[in-house]
Amino acid sequence: MAQTTLDAEPKEHAKKDTASMKAKEEEFIKSCRPLNEMLDSVRNVEGFPIGKDEDILALSEAPWYTACPNPYVNEFIKAFGTPYDEETDDYERKPYIGDVSEGKKDPIYNAHSYHTKVPYKAIMKFIEHYTDEGDVVFDGFCGTGMTGVAAQILNRSAILSDLSSIATFIAYNLNEYTNLNKFDKEVERVLQEVNDECGWLYETTHIDGTTKGEIVYTIFSEVLICPYCGNEYVVWDAAVDYENNIENILFDCPTCKAKINKSESEQAHYTFFDEITSTNVTQVKRVPVLINYSIKNKRFLKKPDKLDLIEPQANLTLLLEILK
Ligand SMILES: C[S@@+](CC[C@H](N)C(=O)[O-])C[C@H]1O[C@@H](n2cnc3c(N)ncnc32)[C@H](O)[C@@H]1O
Ligand SMILES: [Zn+2]
Repeated sequence: MAQTTLDAEPKEHAKKDTASMKAKEEEFIKSCRPLNEMLDSVRNVEGFPIGKDEDILALSEAPWYTACPNPYVNEFIKAFGTPYDEETDDYERKPYIGDVSEGKKDPIYNAHSYHTKVPYKAIMKFIEHYTDEGDVVFDGFCGTGMTGVAAQILNRSAILSDLSSIATFIAYNLNEYTNLNKFDKEVERVLQEVNDECGWLYETTHIDGTTKGEIVYTIFSEVLICPYCGNEYVVWDAAVDYENNIENILFDCPTCKAKINKSESEQAHYTFFDEITSTNVTQVKRVPVLINYSIKNKRFLKKPDKLDLIEPQANLTLLLEILK
């Protein structure tokens, strides 16, 4: 067990008795000592991160999420679980025998990819069968926390743990309560900031020569070498009839007019100095040939102009400027 997420908060659409749950949570928070005073109690647990305490504290949102073995687990189980009593315990379930087949086209499932990720709707069937409302569900290999999502939808609490820090981080973020308005505003703010800094990279000049449009996509074409005259040619220009949606197999070399095809033409390359790796880099040559852009929701197509055709190494230099 390394990093652990505790989730007691039911999801919006499954809220039952939310006020009493909130009160219970607040009481629980009050009963918890600060995380910096608790680290020593879990420091010797296998999987405790090799890192500075201050970083663990900064990453954590105790008691719900700790970037180390969670020292509040026992108290959490006492507060939110049903104490086990050997004398009175009569838990019994037949093995679950239903077919479980769930698609993967779900926004929560797709919010973050992960290896061998399980759709939470599939997990719900097992939780519903083996546990009761109000129970605590434990997943010690939680990955992105789909068990927690399933448990919360069914009004169960969840304890999620994983050896991987990124797993518990994703699991926590998919399971914690999110204020949608705040989230929306933050997304807008980040998009605006990125747009202010990098939006110009996606700008192109409209055919009127002044208005700026936003590039939606650019079509690139390979550049090949004519086997007869040795000159480079752009496949798009020589072989493609865009209006009629045809790519000709046999076409004229734009320079020597010989009848040629792609398979007998070699690829053209170019070499440039990459300032990031301080080496010469050779790449297959491709050039932009058509730009689709929008102005006030109206789409336009144009051939790239001079400004659109800045050399790739110039792009790299610009990228370096942004990264500084
Ligand atoms: C198959 S993934 C789980 C994916 C999860 N079902 C989901 O939907 O995202 C298995 C997880 O087990 C974790 N794991 C492997 N060995 C572990 C260990 N000894 N202790 C805790 N977690 C471990 C891995 O980091 C991985 O995230
Ligand atoms: Zn030629």
